[in-house]
Amino acid sequence: MYHPDGPTFLELMRQALASTERGYDLIAPKFDRTPFRTPDVVLEAMMRAIAEETPAARPVRAALDVCCGTGAAMTHLRALCTERVAGLDFSHGMLDEARRRVAAAPGSAAVELVHGDALALPFDGEFDVVTSVGAFGHILPEDEDRFVSGIARALRPGGRFVFATAEMPPVTSASWWISRSFNAVMRVRNALLSPQFIMYYLTFLWPDVRMRLERHGLRVEARRGLCPAPFERAIIAIATKD
Ligand SMILES: C[S@@+](CC[C@H](N)C(=O)[O-])C[C@H]1O[C@@H](n2cnc3c(N)ncnc32)[C@H](O)[C@@H]1O
Repeated sequence: MYHPDGPTFLELMRQALASTERGYDLIAPKFDRTPFRTPDVVLEAMMRAIAEETPAARPVRAALDVCCGTGAAMTHLRALCTERVAGLDFSHGMLDEARRRVAAAPGSAAVELVHGDALALPFDGEFDVVTSVGAFGHILPEDEDRFVSGIARALRPGGRFVFATAEMPPVTSASWWISRSFNAVMRVRNALLSPQFIMYYLTFLWPDVRMRLERHGLRVEARRGLCPAPFERAIIAIATKD
């Protein structure tokens, strides 16, 4: 839902005409009042799935949220972590917002915010949990293997990549048509204007994503029915590095 204090139509247009990175810098202070911030009910379902599968003998020492934005997932992850919660994003504006919000979140894990590219993660075997939410539309299909391999490398053995996805909506549904029309407009925009704003809907969907994750050595399971309406189609996926 659009919030009266959220970005105006003009501000959203300026975002879409900038690069992806600069576009997020522009709307960062108002981002949490847009429908693009991942809703807390979805994040809570992800946290429940993580907590249920965390044995007391092997707590979550460190977690990473990739494309952390203003820290939506990190504010929930902090209380689950015993040592460190990290977030990576390429927008300085979004990272500045995350710094304030995550510092005030419950939990005592050290907070680390990293400016970087999700396609070149600078981590190796460091995290028990990696999450990424609301960001797959910014990863082009041809870059998904690079994205997944960086996440697999960042996990410790036994670590889990946890994210929310869904199946392709039926061709007869409004969401299929709205998403496809949006994607067509973005393709024209990106063919005509530079720098590009990478944002496409209906990517990283179940079940295709499962095969991609398995190719990178992750064992994948899907949990359905964890999110309330209107997110009941959400699938919480848990990909474990054995
Ligand atoms: C729609 S926002 C979602 C933010 C947050 N995860 C949430 O759910 O509220 C997408 C975020 O991904 C970041 N992003 C997009 N592509 C990225 C990339 N290649 N590397 C790092 N960050 C990226 C943007 O800067 C933005 O903060």
